[in-house]
Amino acid sequence: METTAEVLNDTFATDVIEGLSSTPKFLSSKYFYDEKGDAIFQQIMDMPSYYLTKSEHEIFNTHKQALLSLFSDRQQAFHLIEFGAGDGMKTKVLLEHFLQQKACFRYLPIDISENVLSILVNDLEINFPGLEVEPLANEYFEALDILNEQQRTERKIILFLGSNIGNFLHNEAIEFLRQMRKHLRPDDLLLIGFDLKKDPQIILDAYNDKEGITRNFNLNLLDRINAAFDGNFDTSQFIHSPTYNPLTGATKSYLVSTKDQEVTLERLGKTFKFEAWEAIDMEISQKYSLSNIEHLAKQAGFEVMSNFFDKNKNFVDSVWTMK
Ligand SMILES: C[S@@+](CC[C@H](N)C(=O)[O-])C[C@H]1O[C@@H](n2cnc3c(N)ncnc32)[C@H](O)[C@@H]1O
Repeated sequence: METTAEVLNDTFATDVIEGLSSTPKFLSSKYFYDEKGDAIFQQIMDMPSYYLTKSEHEIFNTHKQALLSLFSDRQQAFHLIEFGAGDGMKTKVLLEHFLQQKACFRYLPIDISENVLSILVNDLEINFPGLEVEPLANEYFEALDILNEQQRTERKIILFLGSNIGNFLHNEAIEFLRQMRKHLRPDDLLLIGFDLKKDPQIILDAYNDKEGITRNFNLNLLDRINAAFDGNFDTSQFIHSPTYNPLTGATKSYLVSTKDQEVTLERLGKTFKFEAWEAIDMEISQKYSLSNIEHLAKQAGFEVMSNFFDKNKNFVDSVWTMK
């Protein structure tokens, strides 16, 4: 058992303390993904209303050869590096095609969740025995730093799928992409999946299912905090409240305290007060227009090379090169 001082050294602990001590309160959505969170996210992706996964799957199915031609125009070797790979469900469409085409590549999935990464690697070993896989259980740039230190010569193709970029505020996204640029060489490419602005009701339905799966996904982070820090969050006293602002394109998820209450995290020696109807800001899922995407690329020092859409134009996979 760690001492309180050791627990406080932990980034999860310091992030939780910072978020719950702030006004307004917030928690980072990157902590959604423990073993249970990974499993709930699988259920979310299977929901009929969660169009994001289905749209990107369709894009890869339709455009896999065009993507391979961009990634390896002169048959050169490349490293397919995926940020936040998760279960790799859509990526497998590309992997299968690239193997069939005898492309010279290696797949490097990066994920902070060791659990999801080991499930993915086992699955790939069984279903794609010829594939070279190098998993990296780490934060995005820490993993990229390790690769860069090894001075590899292969072209890097970075995949950042599933609208993960939407989990950043605009300024954070620019900062993240500028940092990405510093890790790349001029010949490398970046493929980012963006969720597009659309009928607000379609967006709200994806984040507010009647079955309460998205609600459970959010509440699971309170359970995770309870388990890690001997806490007493009562999840029945919080409701899940998503919003979409068509002006800014921001979909936000909040957990709202239904009464005045105090929550103690024993192992951190901290108590946090909640007023009735006070919210915790849990997640942003930013939606983009094509001009927003052009603008973002330019601000971060990239250029849009090609855009690939699903037939309903719900989603775009945008391939960027360095400017
Ligand atoms: C929304 S899921 C998306 C999974 C997959 N890319 C897809 O499109 O279906 C986000 C994944 O990113 C991982 N992740 C989140 N923040 C991360 C970070 N800072 N570094 C590494 N992985 C991260 C999570 O563990 C999770 O598996």
